[in-house]
Amino acid sequence: MLASCQFVRKDKSTSIYFFLGVEMTSRRAFIGSSFLGFLGALVPGKSFGLVTAAKKTRVCKISSIPVSGGKIVKTTLGDLLVTQPRKNTFRAFSARCTHEGCTVGSGRAGANVVSGGVVTCNCHGAKFNANDGRAVSGPARSALKKYVVSKDKTYLYVS
Ligand code: FES
Repeated sequence: MLASCQFVRKDKSTSIYFFLGVEMTSRRAFIGSSFLGFLGALVPGKSFGLVTAAKKTRVCKISSIPVSGGKIVKTTLGDLLVTQPRKNTFRAFSARCTHEGCTVGSGRAGANVVSGGVVTCNCHGAKFNANDGRAVSGPARSALKKYVVSKDKTYLYVS
């Protein structure tokens, strides 16, 4: 994502510079902010002044997630529940149950843990919707933490 930069010449003697809608008082401030924003767009996860690029974490191969199913995947972010509710539609949630913190789906990494569109926490029986993470059956009351999913030709990523 590139930052929005704008230069406005008010009259011959006065110039006003805008960076991300913020008025800059000088050409030097404008150029500096624009450069920092450009760096932020190039370097994921790094913040340069006003712009921060989202950090993406590789999760798993696309082909490893079954259609209408889902798996627990161990990542640097912790255990994630990754689902594919419809062909080529992927979701990712924290696998930590919102009741008392067990790993949903019995924590069985690699096995399909979604059945009938829901994943169950075997500690006390809470059920979560595999498409949106919402708790559909207690004792859990709140949804699983959701991640933004992106992909390339081979892998799924979350941010
Ligand atoms: S910890 Fe998951 S239902 Fe209690």
